[in-house]
Amino acid sequence: MQPLRLTVIGVGYLGLTHAACMADLGHEVLAIDTDHERIARASAGELPFFEPGLEPLLRKGLDTGRLRFTTSYQEIGAFGEVHFLCVGTPQAADGAADLSYLTHAADALAPHLRSGCLIAGKSTVPAGTARALLATIRAAAPAGEQVDLAWNPEFLREGHAVADTLHPDRFVFGVTSPRAEAVLRQVYAQPLADGIPALSMGLETAELVKVSANAFLAVKISFINAVADACEAAGADVTQLTAALALDERIGRRGMAPGLGFGGGCLPKDIRAFRATAAALGVQSVVSLLADVDEINKSRRSHVVDMARAAAGGTLSGKKIAALGLAFKPDSDDVRDSPSLDVCGRLAADGAIVTAHDPVAVDNATRQHPELRYAKTVLEAAHDADLVLHLTEWDEYRSLDPAALAAVVAHRTIIDARCVLDTRAWQTAGWTVRTVGRSA
Ligand SMILES: NC(=O)c1ccc[n+]([C@@H]2O[C@H](COP(=O)([O-])OP(=O)(O)OC[C@H]3O[C@@H](n4cnc5c(N)ncnc54)[C@H](O)[C@@H]3O)[C@@H](O)[C@H]2O)c1
Repeated sequence: MQPLRLTVIGVGYLGLTHAACMADLGHEVLAIDTDHERIARASAGELPFFEPGLEPLLRKGLDTGRLRFTTSYQEIGAFGEVHFLCVGTPQAADGAADLSYLTHAADALAPHLRSGCLIAGKSTVPAGTARALLATIRAAAPAGEQVDLAWNPEFLREGHAVADTLHPDRFVFGVTSPRAEAVLRQVYAQPLADGIPALSMGLETAELVKVSANAFLAVKISFINAVADACEAAGADVTQLTAALALDERIGRRGMAPGLGFGGGCLPKDIRAFRATAAALGVQSVVSLLADVDEINKSRRSHVVDMARAAAGGTLSGKKIAALGLAFKPDSDDVRDSPSLDVCGRLAADGAIVTAHDPVAVDNATRQHPELRYAKTVLEAAHDADLVLHLTEWDEYRSLDPAALAAVVAHRTIIDARCVLDTRAWQTAGWTVRTVGRSA
């Protein structure tokens, strides 16, 4: 493999993972962030967030000298043959994507770009963003038309970010020139040689592949949650139903997760941004589909709060609740738009005394919800609890001993908001178990 000099702009969940993985593939990588503290920590081999398997790659990159960090755009402009844009594209007040971080990064980078370099966008953006960015950058860069741009959207899942980066299901290359495609093929030469497929297409299609992949995953989750409501109303069991649906090859098991719905820094904001794009394009079918998906998803959180109120005897006021899980998903410390943390906040707002536990997300949760109590162990959280809520499906919670927990709580009632606990084992230990998507 011919190593390239790559830069990574934005050292968040996506950018830091990408930088460390590209260095692991043998490239020379220089990464930049406007957050100087983040750069200092990363330069010292410290992850600014929790991601399994990433720290050894970061340290290896630093030790070999293939991975370095900077805060100077001048330095990355002079260094890079390919610049990966990995900054955030959060939700703006009107629901559309806020592209200001991307434009600031492009403005800072453009004056320093070398002739013949390629900018490769990885952030999730509305269709049309890449083409507009290319025009802006070419107008501002002394290298002008000699600067090329591609869109190479990222599909990694937090908690599996390293494996997803090095062995994705596919690479998507949004390109406007054969040379851009050839450069991206050189970047990913090793995984491509391992047989990972790469699909080349236009910029707008590549942008839309990413947002429609997220929209489809969101549809799947909201679909099974709508069916969970039907199961509760009809006296059926959504867990058994999902197992039966999953064996239909046209449907499949993955992503069919009834429960508390989706959250995090991507799916919720991405479906809203797609909806805003569709509205601007006049595509009403996408607008109404995603509006329903979003509403169903939001309703999951109030549904679980209602279940808790009912299980607590009709009022939450003064009730002690042990909450298991704060991160938006297991194997992550990310609490951005976390359904679990949101439920905890709502319970506390309704007068409950919430003591929450999470293996890694307590620090992040404390910053957003200082009013909650936090425990270091599950047993500490459950001490004297009137009700236990299972909110994030960490392995640690699946393998809890129901008898050990039964010994410390005030009342043996648990709500399984993720539909994954072994109900029979909990019932055998004397627990009353309420599960989303089951009538009793
Ligand atoms: N997190 C994921 O699982 C994931 C997966 C696929 C795609 N994405 C997409 O990747 C993008 C980044 O997401 P993230 O979760 O890594 O966000 P993040 O907030 O964790 O990281 C963004 C980083 O960019 C930095 N930044 C902002 N402006 C900058 C600038 N002008 N120059 C340099 N650095 C700057 C921030 O300081 C921050 O460290 C988003 O578009 C997101 O939708 C994220």
